[in-house]
Amino acid sequence: MRASGARSRAACLRVAGVLWLALAAPWVAAAAAGTPPVAAVASAHPLATEAGHEILAQGGNAFDAAVAVSAVLAVVEPYSSGLGGGGFWLLHRARDGLEVMVDARERAPLAARRDMYLDPAGEVLPRASIDGPLAAGIPGVVAAWVHIAEGYGRLALASSLAPAIRSAKQGFQVDAPYRRLARLRLDALRASPGAAATFLSDGEVPSQGAQLRQGDLAATLARVSRDGRKGFYDGETAQALVDGVRTAGGIWTLADLNQYQVIEREPVRGQYRGMHITSASPPSSGGVALVEMLNVLAPYALGDLGAVPRTHLIVEAMRRAYRDRAQYLGDPDFVESPVGLLTHPYYAAGLRATIRRDRATPSAALAGIGGSSAGGPHTTHCSILDREGNRVAATLSINYPFGSGFVPPGTGVLLNDEMDDFVAKPGVPNVYGLVGAQANAIAPGKRMLSSMTPTFLDDGSRLAVLGTPGGSRIITMVLLATLAFTEGATAEAMVARARFHHQYLPDELQLEPQALDDETLTGLEALGHRAHRLERAWGNMQVIVWDRDRGEVQAASDPRGIGAARVH
Ligand code: DON
Repeated sequence: MRASGARSRAACLRVAGVLWLALAAPWVAAAAAGTPPVAAVASAHPLATEAGHEILAQGGNAFDAAVAVSAVLAVVEPYSSGLGGGGFWLLHRARDGLEVMVDARERAPLAARRDMYLDPAGEVLPRASIDGPLAAGIPGVVAAWVHIAEGYGRLALASSLAPAIRSAKQGFQVDAPYRRLARLRLDALRASPGAAATFLSDGEVPSQGAQLRQGDLAATLARVSRDGRKGFYDGETAQALVDGVRTAGGIWTLADLNQYQVIEREPVRGQYRGMHITSASPPSSGGVALVEMLNVLAPYALGDLGAVPRTHLIVEAMRRAYRDRAQYLGDPDFVESPVGLLTHPYYAAGLRATIRRDRATPSAALAGIGGSSAGGPHTTHCSILDREGNRVAATLSINYPFGSGFVPPGTGVLLNDEMDDFVAKPGVPNVYGLVGAQANAIAPGKRMLSSMTPTFLDDGSRLAVLGTPGGSRIITMVLLATLAFTEGATAEAMVARARFHHQYLPDELQLEPQALDDETLTGLEALGHRAHRLERAWGNMQVIVWDRDRGEVQAASDPRGIGAARVH
């Protein structure tokens, strides 16, 4: 009896011990990891990076800083993100190791229909999902700010929004990217009196250095600052948004705004040669495709290969992951996305078996979908690490430059054209040349598939927080930066590295002007790759690297953009 009592006590203790370890494990891991010697902010605009440091200096944590940085980006990069858009915030809380993705992706309006961008003959109406209020999904950014501030922040929302309100009131100087992108979207901006009054000067692109003030936006931000989500999804702002949209031919209702909620989702996780990857889960395709590509590549000793075989293998992994993106992924609340399968190493082994070392696989030879070409400025990103080790990677978007170009009068809120990220018709490419299937068809209240890929990498010694805009090229940019990180690249080298991209369809290898030398290109063409060197570089990556062993933090902002990265 006694022996058995002792045995059962021992068993109880063992269970308790295991339980204790299980409960304490995240804490143990966090404590073992230590804390960074400095905080860091990397974002697409110097004023936003400044705001992040201002909030950290006030005693805010990385989550407060993320609200402040993204709110300033919404003001000073109106072509990239904003209250009229959405995004994904990947959070890591140092205290308990919690990792979560705040899904603030736009939703299709409740009155949306699968064929809403098709003409009576069933053909896609070319600009209907890009310009004007019919192109706009229900925005999620404000709901995310409130959610993050209340659930994770240390400061009041009003403190974190203060720098953005200041920037909207005082104005910021019109810069080169603003002018280039406003020129690109001039027709859409001119068509909306609300947009023209704010973003143009007498119907023309404002001159470089002109001070751009946004009084209506400042007032909307002030209502959010005072009333939280009610300041946007209810009351005066909601009414003005709905009235403006409907008067101009859109289909939003108050119910759309009242019902909008952010969703906390489990991030996608993977391993690459001993490194942990934490990234965006559906409705973004980013993390799934990233992990799938890394799984395909893991057994190859890429570092030992010459430029031609190395690039060939990476491109073949890209091709296959983008095929799966097109075929299988959509809003997980509406369609079953086979995330577990697509991110499984055995699945990758099957894909790898279809790769020939001596020849490019024509995309048409992979079972899938038909389609055509890529492109894509703008959207934005910020990466943040605080002194406690909390971290945020947030990629935010209104989709195309200046979104839909439509501002509901009196709100200052430039609406997104994220509806174009749905599949208007299976096999017909969207503005980024991406094709898709039923999984990403339009349905009321559904979130459109995204490529945004906010990501954490951690090999136990070094850790990275990263992400970038770039439409369909986002995922391959994050892949290339991840591979660079595994080779020991600094944050600066990760953002600077020349980029190449393949997205299954069109079946072409796209290169930045400086990517790959001519000899490598000739070698790739001999394998059957159709290479196409583009005139413009792409992306605007923001990276923070914390080297725990060296006790060092690096922050870098993409040299292709005007952003700023700073430790504190
Ligand atoms: O969610 C997406 O994948 C796109 N709406 C992102 C657009 C974008 O990155 C434009 N970029 N430069």
